[in-house]
Amino acid sequence: MAEAVLLLQGIRKAYNVGTPSETEVLHGIDITVATGEFCAVIGPSGSGKSTLLNIIGLLDRPSGGSLRIDGQDTGGLDEAALTTLRGQSIGFVFQYHHLISAFTALENVMLPLLVRRGFANSEMRRTAERLIDQVQLSPFADSRANTMSGGQQQRVAIARALAVDPAIVLADEPTGNLDTKSAEGVFELMRSVNKERGTTFLLVTHNMDLARRCDRTIQIVDGRVVP
Ligand SMILES: Nc1ncnc2c1ncn2[C@@H]1O[C@H](COP(=O)(O)OP(=O)(O)O)[C@@H](O)[C@H]1O
Ligand SMILES: [Mg+2]
Repeated sequence: MAEAVLLLQGIRKAYNVGTPSETEVLHGIDITVATGEFCAVIGPSGSGKSTLLNIIGLLDRPSGGSLRIDGQDTGGLDEAALTTLRGQSIGFVFQYHHLISAFTALENVMLPLLVRRGFANSEMRRTAERLIDQVQLSPFADSRANTMSGGQQQRVAIARALAVDPAIVLADEPTGNLDTKSAEGVFELMRSVNKERGTTFLLVTHNMDLARRCDRTIQIVDGRVVP
């Protein structure tokens, strides 16, 4: 069996450490995700799902426990090494797409490649064009993000997340802001990317119909995984 793309052991997270309002919101999370799995993360609002995704995405540090991503132990890494690992291995899709509204769809998808050194301009453009095509937005490649519908913007966000060919895509309620039909399209797109490229997905959703169609569901309640 291939090494797990994600291995969490005893992950804890406290906010406002050392102040009177210190609160622990993750109380020891153990999760293993195999390469190529498409996992749903469900649980009530406030249960710690976004906190967990931010930690897995190396946007925030845990207060305790160990986190291995793509075969690498993240515990001893400094900020620069975390940034490199994040840039190479992780793609993000958020509820609000966080596209740059004045940029075109194509330019938004090229952004993660610009941040990484060593890509020629023409190569970045070709990669971005291929991804825009994969999310079926070729006719909109040169449209500004703020002229596109919510579902289209979220598809651009998915293309952007895939630009660096990440081992895992973390999606935090990516369909939470979409109508049923657009949500379905965005979900199917992620599913097809998972099947065709073998990209691992961790998808936070409140939509139980979508969660049921994932390979596995991880349920978080009050900062713990429900066994
Ligand atoms: N930056 C923060 N500082 C303090 N408390 C936070 C912070 N972010 C989240 N929390 C708290 O942590 C708990 C879990 O939040 P969150 O991870 O956003 O849950 P979910 O995504 O499941 O709705 C909530 O009680 C929330 O108020
Ligand atoms: Mg959340």
